[in-house]
Amino acid sequence: MQLIDGRKVSEDIYQSLKEEVDKIRAVGGKVPHLAAVLVGNNPASQTYVNAKVKACEQVGFGSTLLKLDENISEDALLDTIKQLNENNDIDGFIVQLPLPHQIDENKVTQAIMPHKDVDGFHPTNLGRMVLNLPAYLPATPFGIVKLLEAYKIETSGKHCVVIGRSHIVGSPMSILLARNSNPGNCTVTLCHSRTKDLATYTKQADIIILALGKPYFLKKEMIKEGVVVVDVGITRVETTTTKSGFKLAGDADFDDIAEKCSYITPVPGGVGPMTIACLMNNTLLASRKEIYKD
Ligand code: GUN
Repeated sequence: MQLIDGRKVSEDIYQSLKEEVDKIRAVGGKVPHLAAVLVGNNPASQTYVNAKVKACEQVGFGSTLLKLDENISEDALLDTIKQLNENNDIDGFIVQLPLPHQIDENKVTQAIMPHKDVDGFHPTNLGRMVLNLPAYLPATPFGIVKLLEAYKIETSGKHCVVIGRSHIVGSPMSILLARNSNPGNCTVTLCHSRTKDLATYTKQADIIILALGKPYFLKKEMIKEGVVVVDVGITRVETTTTKSGFKLAGDADFDDIAEKCSYITPVPGGVGPMTIACLMNNTLLASRKEIYKD
């Protein structure tokens, strides 16, 4: 079994981003600038957004964090998005999800101009991804593709089972791995909460992508020898083994399955660091206008 070290691969991405920033500074150019909008007080969202701002500092990008009240109206949020769309200092921005119940996430996603949508959630970017045209790719699936590439894991002709059909991870992941590209060319099965007898599919899988948010869900009886397991799950669970009383758990029962896997991502330190590194990469592309040339 080989551990897939997302921290190491993300550090390599940060290193090359830093070098790009140095080159931009050397010629007196404008460094990439990412803005993040955080609505309300969701603790997980606060942690993620802070990590994104910190990553900007680490690679030398500019960053702006806009913290908005939990009770903000949809119109006021849409107005903030309009201002960010029009602000030429900001190359790309994200609105951290989930949003409070009074706000329609689809409206918000669609209000972001596609050329600034570094999360890759706008229908234009998702459509371009499906068509294999230049697009901002959603950061978590993009990060997983980069991990498979970094570890030279063969995907062509393999059976990949994706569990979870969210717009952020499962759905785009299934599309990326089925595309005619490398990594890609998988036969993909997309499983979700209504899938009957899930183990029938997981037992046949060469690659399993777990994105269902159920800690310790995948057990050794559900997989075949030599499978590659990529675990997107990251849930805070109670434990007596840490000072804080909590630890982060993936969707795989790591200790149970690790021996049977050829490769497996740990939680934390697997997919998580890659998500942020890929967001930074998309921000560089936005500043260079590489996806939408005008
Ligand atoms: N919530 C969970 N993951 C993400 C992400 O990648 N981007 C945004 N904007 N919100 C999220």
